[in-house]
Amino acid sequence: MMIPFDPTTMPRLDAEAVRTSKLSGVPSDHMFISEYAHGEWRKSRIQGYRPIPISPFAIGMQYAQSVFEGMKAYRYHDGRIAIFRIDRHAARFNRSLERMCMPAVPEELFREALVQLVSVDHAWVPEGPDSTLYVRPYMFASEEHVGLQPANEFLFMVLSAPFRPRFHKPIRVKVEREFVRAAPGGVGYAKCAGNYAAAMYPTQLAKEEGFDQLVWTDALTHSRVEESGAMNVMFVIDGALVTPPLSDTILDGVTRESLLILAREAGIRVEERDVTVEELRSGIPGGQVTEAFGAGTAAIVAPIRTISIDGVDYNLPDPQDNHHHSIMLRLKQLLHEIRFGLVEDRHQWMTIVEPRA
Ligand SMILES: Cc1ncc(COP(=O)(O)O)c(C=O)c1O
Repeated sequence: MMIPFDPTTMPRLDAEAVRTSKLSGVPSDHMFISEYAHGEWRKSRIQGYRPIPISPFAIGMQYAQSVFEGMKAYRYHDGRIAIFRIDRHAARFNRSLERMCMPAVPEELFREALVQLVSVDHAWVPEGPDSTLYVRPYMFASEEHVGLQPANEFLFMVLSAPFRPRFHKPIRVKVEREFVRAAPGGVGYAKCAGNYAAAMYPTQLAKEEGFDQLVWTDALTHSRVEESGAMNVMFVIDGALVTPPLSDTILDGVTRESLLILAREAGIRVEERDVTVEELRSGIPGGQVTEAFGAGTAAIVAPIRTISIDGVDYNLPDPQDNHHHSIMLRLKQLLHEIRFGLVEDRHQWMTIVEPRA
């Protein structure tokens, strides 16, 4: 499938700035866009990145019928470019879309949109340790309609932006025991726009209290840990890698799954089971809980230094102080080697992208 390409007439690429990773969070020169109407995807094309006209009554704007993904393209040491786990992100995108009454995107269209966009904008994939091109597939209901109903018209787009790593000092998180991110039967497992809007207010309050992030607990009892803002949470407890099991209230993180696979292969004991707030409250001072971290596409792993429970801080050791024994750092390194092409891609997680001349 060759997607029609209409190159931008106003390239904004500052190749030197991208190469040296000075440019971060700036849209790349092109975008993919496809229109859904009358039951089919039409007019798929790659064009210059630019604003698009939207009806003020678009259902996606009024009622948040909108779903997205977040993925990354990497530049290997030999200069080749590869995208991480397209199939897993495509499958999750379609699971989210189904929940939001939105049409599926055929995996081939999803894959080709990504590959051909990154191919066109290959010069936007930065070099340098941990620098990446962030790729954002997303869809929203573009149909103009006054009144609540699922739309029949949608736009599917893929955007991208170079992403420069920020130095990740261990973070301070608050276990949220009042507000709720997701309830059983709800949309927590879907990467739908509304989940993120709904999380902003509690997250903002926590930031004002000096926290970097929230750790959400289950909606009914607030006694079990679920996940963090845009990351799954993982712990090392009695030497095992422990993370809450997937459910309809937790996003099925691609980083989470990748780390679990790598941990099992490395002979690390893995437990997908409930983690209670009480287990953290006693296990951190008791020395059973030795590591805690978030896992997600943006940060890959984010070490947690402090977990605040009901106003009391529980501090974990800095993994850098014990880097020979840190399971988090070991897993991070294993994943890093795959993502940057330093080892053989045994799992076929990487899709190599040929630059378009
Ligand atoms: C709510 C939430 N949980 C977890 C994750 C981590 O998922 P992934 O590893 O696929 O980025 C994300 C980020 O996408 C997220 O938004």
